[in-house]
Amino acid sequence: MHALVEQARGEVDQIRELIDEVLFLSELESGSRVVSLGAVAVLPELAAVAGELEERASRVGVALAVAGDPGIELEVRPRMLRVVAQNLAENAIRYAGPGATFTLAVERDAGNVILRGTDDGVGVAESDLGRLFERFYRADRARASRGTGLGLAIVKHVVTQAGGTVEARGGLGAGLEIRCILPARRSALV
Ligand SMILES: Nc1ncnc2c1ncn2[C@@H]1O[C@H](COP(=O)(O)OP(=O)(O)OP(=O)(O)O)[C@@H](O)[C@H]1O
Ligand SMILES: [Mg+2]
Repeated sequence: MHALVEQARGEVDQIRELIDEVLFLSELESGSRVVSLGAVAVLPELAAVAGELEERASRVGVALAVAGDPGIELEVRPRMLRVVAQNLAENAIRYAGPGATFTLAVERDAGNVILRGTDDGVGVAESDLGRLFERFYRADRARASRGTGLGLAIVKHVVTQAGGTVEARGGLGAGLEIRCILPARRSALV
């Protein structure tokens, strides 16, 4: 009996998570609240997310790391930076496999800032890379994973609203790298 209650509770949690994601995605589509008025330091947000997920990661044998120049800033709300970082980190925890290392990094690149999540885990087939950002797309449907396929669609929406683009690199057995390429200053856009 107890096991059934637990299972039901787990399913309710999963449905709640799905509803939250769908609501969040439609909120983003209405174009609201991604961009910040002032500059926000990126690294502390990445470190906060890594800190929060550290325990879950170590339980499945995934190491988390954070790297980059603490001086790099973006005109993106802290909550939105955390949404991006959290989705990338949760994916590595869920899919990369034991023994993998996942790194959240922020780097300067010409007039852009690159926020990337890189792991050296199982990866996805190269032919799937282009579709990862589609809603409800899951690279390995046969696997009994709990994902709904919205996480990377959310990442793409946040980055796009901030004037940036996303890219996926890697291959089967070659890990996965998700790159978010964002303009260093939004004022350069307008
Ligand atoms: N680090 C990774 N390593 C291997 N496969 C990955 C990784 N990140 C994502 N994937 C693959 O990409 C798919 C899409 O990821 P996405 O985050 O969009 O959805 P999800 O994790 O399935 O569900 P949700 O994020 O909505 O809970 C995943 O189902 C998984 O197959
Ligand atoms: Mg996900």
